[in-house]
Amino acid sequence: VLSPSCRHRHSNPGVNWKHKDAAIYLVTSLASKAQTAKHGITQANELVNLTEFFVNHILTDLKSQNVNEFPVLKADAIKYVMIFRSQLPKEQLLQAVPLLVAHLQAESTVEHTYAAHALERLFTMRGPNNSTLITPAEMAPFTEQLLNNLFKALALPGSSENEYIMKAIMRSFSLLQEAIVSYIPTLIGQLTHKLLLVSKNPSKPHFNHYLFESLCLSIRITCKANTTTVGSFEEALFPVFTEILQNDVQEFVPYVFQVMSLLLEIHTSSIPNSYMALFPHLLQPVLWERTGNIPPLVRLLQAYLEKGGATIASSAADKIPGLLGVFQKLIASKANDHQGFYLMNSIIEHMPTESIVQYRKQIFILLFQRLQSSKTTKFIKSFMVFINLYGVKYGAIALQEIFDSIQPKMFGMVLEKIVIPEVQKVSGPVEKKICAVGITKILTECPAMIDTEYTKLWTPLLQALIGLFELPEDDSIPDDEHFIDIEDTPGYQTAFSQLAFAGKNEHDPIREVTSNPKILLAQSLHKLSTACPGRVPSMLSTSLNAEALQYLQGYLQAASVQLV
Ligand SMILES: *[C@@H]1O[C@H](CO)[C@@H](O)[C@H](O)[C@H]1NC(C)=O
Ligand SMILES: *[C@@H]1O[C@H](CO)[C@@H](O)[C@H](O)[C@H]1NC(C)=O
Ligand SMILES: *[C@@H]1O[C@H](CO)[C@@H](O)[C@H](O)[C@H]1NC(C)=O
Ligand SMILES: *[C@@H]1O[C@H](CO)[C@@H](O)[C@H](O)[C@H]1NC(C)=O
Repeated sequence: VLSPSCRHRHSNPGVNWKHKDAAIYLVTSLASKAQTAKHGITQANELVNLTEFFVNHILTDLKSQNVNEFPVLKADAIKYVMIFRSQLPKEQLLQAVPLLVAHLQAESTVEHTYAAHALERLFTMRGPNNSTLITPAEMAPFTEQLLNNLFKALALPGSSENEYIMKAIMRSFSLLQEAIVSYIPTLIGQLTHKLLLVSKNPSKPHFNHYLFESLCLSIRITCKANTTTVGSFEEALFPVFTEILQNDVQEFVPYVFQVMSLLLEIHTSSIPNSYMALFPHLLQPVLWERTGNIPPLVRLLQAYLEKGGATIASSAADKIPGLLGVFQKLIASKANDHQGFYLMNSIIEHMPTESIVQYRKQIFILLFQRLQSSKTTKFIKSFMVFINLYGVKYGAIALQEIFDSIQPKMFGMVLEKIVIPEVQKVSGPVEKKICAVGITKILTECPAMIDTEYTKLWTPLLQALIGLFELPEDDSIPDDEHFIDIEDTPGYQTAFSQLAFAGKNEHDPIREVTSNPKILLAQSLHKLSTACPGRVPSMLSTSLNAEALQYLQGYLQAASVQLV
């Protein structure tokens, strides 16, 4: 019914475009059975052949030389591609791509916005092998035009903060990857200029978010190809970042910290002076008052410590108390205590020993105060990772001595009341590994565990360690913790402006110690048993349960060692 009349209208589009608008609307409605935001139309009606309609009626509008003629029909056509994208064959979509790119230049806001949105959606589609349906190679002939037109569209009246265009820029970068590297020196200037403008008066949160995501992608992709280019990004971005921080543009500050973390983490040698100049400002209490700042600021301080622990110790030692002040504030909060531990673990890992030795006891006292005032599962898990990391770094004897220096027999109490009953709750592969290696050291490198009243804890601790290796994680939460206030729950906290493309790599602080903690346990037990023959087998035979003993024999065999 539709085809002949539509064909007729082709011959006289100037008069009949309203009829065609209605016809496309009808087809779209008839054909749509199920629509989702993620995939567009997922189920089509068998009355309409969508491919035929696309070829005969939609493509003609998209192909017209003048993108500004009949904007309503152009918008209809683009919308058709957008909503039926999951139904149309890839071949048709590839035909549509350069046409959509051309429509980014249309004067009509609806038309160029639709074009940007349609491209963004097409670029997220997945093919049968779960890679993007449209590949960077297929985009190669249009890459330059695409990038040009997207940035030019931002200059069109009414679209200077168009979130669909900015999202399409982000998605194009993400799809094209290395193919954008040669364009970045030009584009970064445009992005930075845009950032400077919107930071005067942030009003479009989505636009701003995608702008920062695009910056992150530019950095990641370019620096992956050549890490030394990180300096040129810092040169371009730091003046704007400084202005944002100085004017305290609250919406942007968490983003700036994330981008700075990403940049600093890319550096391979020492920390540049430009970062050190900023360091004292990061410790200002006012910044830590805002919950949205806390996760990105902690990450940034961690990056400072990783790249510049020694520099801070030598040239900013007067700032160490400020750093510990931040730790103290975080650790006192049920919501932010885990962030405090992230910071402290980085301090332990990266600061030279002599620069923090005078503060160590105070750190442990703070932790005990918090344990006494409110002992939550989250705190205990982080606490265990911290003490074991401390033991791995400074040795099991140092760990025992610092506990017992606070209060006699404290070390035994911590093992008995916290480590042995709770270690099964530790989650995360790296966290578990830190605990496994730390406990192995306590078992095998701490004389007090062999020849004092702590000896009675030796087998229960070994049993707990084997449980950590072999048993499922204990994710139970005591009943009285289900009533923690809303502002204390981690889910509420994570509602900060997290950038997907600023993602941090998983860090393993003990990667050089071992990759196989079971083998390390077997080797360490072997060493201990040769140092005091007879003791280890007798402790095992008295109270280790049969199942645990069997697992342990498996580790010894795998390590090809025997206990004597
Ligand atoms: C739609 O038309 C195309 C081209 O004429 C044809 O190849 C395809 O099989 C048709 N699809 C359906 C579902 O009938
Ligand atoms: C995935 O499929 C596309 C075509 O659909 C192909 O070009 C690409 O090489 C495939 N990728 C992998 C990793 O197999
Ligand atoms: C497909 O790839 C996406 C993005 O890389 C990923 O998030 C998703 O888990 C993958 N899905 C499968 C089934 O592999
Ligand atoms: C990497 O980037 C630096 C600075 O931009 C440049 O001098 C150098 O030639 C680049 N190296 C390669 C291998 O492209």
